[in-house]
Amino acid sequence: MNIIKLSAINSTNDYLKELSSTRHVENFTIAVAEHQTQGRGQMGTQWETQQGKNLTFSVLVKDLLLEINAIFYLNAAVAVSVIDALEMFNISGLSIKWPNDILAGNKKLGGILIENNIRSNGEIHSVVGIGINVNQTDFEGLPKATSLALVAEREFDKNAVMVAIAENLKRNLSLLLHKDADALWDKYLQQLYKKNIPMPFEKEGMRFMGIIKGVSKNGSLEVQLEDDNIVFYKVKEVQLLY
Ligand code: BTN
Repeated sequence: MNIIKLSAINSTNDYLKELSSTRHVENFTIAVAEHQTQGRGQMGTQWETQQGKNLTFSVLVKDLLLEINAIFYLNAAVAVSVIDALEMFNISGLSIKWPNDILAGNKKLGGILIENNIRSNGEIHSVVGIGINVNQTDFEGLPKATSLALVAEREFDKNAVMVAIAENLKRNLSLLLHKDADALWDKYLQQLYKKNIPMPFEKEGMRFMGIIKGVSKNGSLEVQLEDDNIVFYKVKEVQLLY
C-alpha cells in the first residue's frame, strides 16, 4: 500500500485530488493526516476533529466507476469496508445511516465523503475520504458524536484501524470490479440504521413518519409512508430525524 503521511493539511481529499491532477499517482494511494485545517463533510459541512486523536484519510480509486453497474456501489463498498474493519476490533452496535454515516448505537462514529472527477485524459478519479473518531473522548457540544475509545473504553492504534479499513476496501473494490457485488450489497442493506422501524423524517421543512425498507441501486432511500405508498428519496432530498 502506498501511504503518504502528512502532519497537517487542509483536507486529505483536496490533497489527493490536487496531487493526482498534477502528476501520476498510483491507484489506491492513501493520504493520511494527523490534522486537517479545512476538513470537509457531506453537503458542504465542515469536518473538525481533535488534533492527533482521530483518523482522517483519503484513498485514490481510479477508473472504478467505468466498470461498475451503479455508482452507489462504491459508497456501499466503502461503508461496508469500514463496518467490517471495526467489527474486527470487536466494536458492536454498528450501523450505516443512509447514505453513508457510520454509527455506533445512535451516535456518529465516522463519515465518508466520496468525490469523483473526470480528468482531461479521460480517467475517472474517485477520492474516498474517511473520517473515524478514534481516541477522542470529549465531544462537548456534539451530543450525537462518539468514538471507538468511548464505545470500547480503551485506546486504539489509529494506523492499525486505517490499514484494516484499507485492506477491506481493496478486497471489496475488487469484488465490484469482478461484478460480484451481491454479498456486499446485502451487507449494506442489512446494516442500514432504523430499517423496518417507523421513524420521523423531514423534507423541505415538513415532518412525516415513514419506514425505511431499503436503498435502490442508484442510492435512493426506499421509504414506506403511512398510507403504505412506497417513495424513493434522493440523497439530500430527505432527512431522517433521530
Ligand atoms: C461526513 O460525514 O460528513 C463526511 C466526513 C468525511 C471526513 C473525511 S476526513 C478525511 C477526508 N478529508 C476531508 O476533508 N473529508 C474526509
